[in-house]
Amino acid sequence: MNEAGANVKVPVVAARDLTKSYQLGEQAVHALRGVSFEIHRGEFVAIMGPSGSGKSTLMNMIGALDVPTSGELKIDGVDIATLDRDQLAGLRNHTIGFVFQQFNLLARTTALDNVKLPLTYAMPRPADPEAMARQRLEQVGLGSRMDHVPSQLSGGQQQRVAIARALVNNPSLILADEPTGALDSATSLEILNLFKALNAQGMTVIMVTHELDVASHAKRLLRVRDGQIVEDRPVHGLLEESAT
Ligand SMILES: Nc1ncnc2c1ncn2[C@@H]1O[C@H](COP(=O)(O)OP(=O)(O)OP(=O)(O)O)[C@@H](O)[C@H]1O
Ligand SMILES: [Mg+2]
Repeated sequence: MNEAGANVKVPVVAARDLTKSYQLGEQAVHALRGVSFEIHRGEFVAIMGPSGSGKSTLMNMIGALDVPTSGELKIDGVDIATLDRDQLAGLRNHTIGFVFQQFNLLARTTALDNVKLPLTYAMPRPADPEAMARQRLEQVGLGSRMDHVPSQLSGGQQQRVAIARALVNNPSLILADEPTGALDSATSLEILNLFKALNAQGMTVIMVTHELDVASHAKRLLRVRDGQIVEDRPVHGLLEESAT
């Protein structure tokens, strides 16, 4: 994609009147009740809200892991309703990098091989997957730990491996659901600083969190309650206002 091309203005995520309902026996659970928003290239967005408010449901839609009940969702300008299963899988592999609370690394596999894994499914097959994985591990500060398996790494280092893995296919956006939820506060700060550095280099980041402290590292805050967006604001000034 040409940086100067017409695509630059297309939002990375555009949601319009998005709803998601689950049928549990007789009962319908309305997890999302009509949300509309746009996220543009280079944004760093935190999604906050109480347990059960629909944050993970929303992330699953944006990550093309699940489809909306109604409404429209475009990822990088592509309406996901027009994609079949294989195309959705392709979108997940090429366009989105996932980071999870529990890292989700393969246990008996080295950092290098964990990061290389998404390239196994990449089309076209990259000429030198190993070099690409090494470069991403160096980017997250793990150049000296490539041959370690997860049990030989700290929690923060494991999350760095997961972030390197999320980056290896050159995604348009990183989706992180509670990425610091399993880390102590000092390590959380390191991971948040890494996201900030990636964002400063142009990466779009969307992060779910329960904590205002964590959200305060993003640039924009979306607050979700009962399946709706109840607040959409810049993060600037957030902590100061909440302290008063
Ligand atoms: N597969 C499912 N089947 C039925 N109901 C579901 C399903 N997934 C989620 N829900 C319901 O949808 C609502 C939103 O759930 P969601 O997981 O998105 O919440 P959340 O904001 O991520 O909560 P948490 O902070 O606890 O992770 C909840 O009421 C939940 O019980
Ligand atoms: Mg959740």
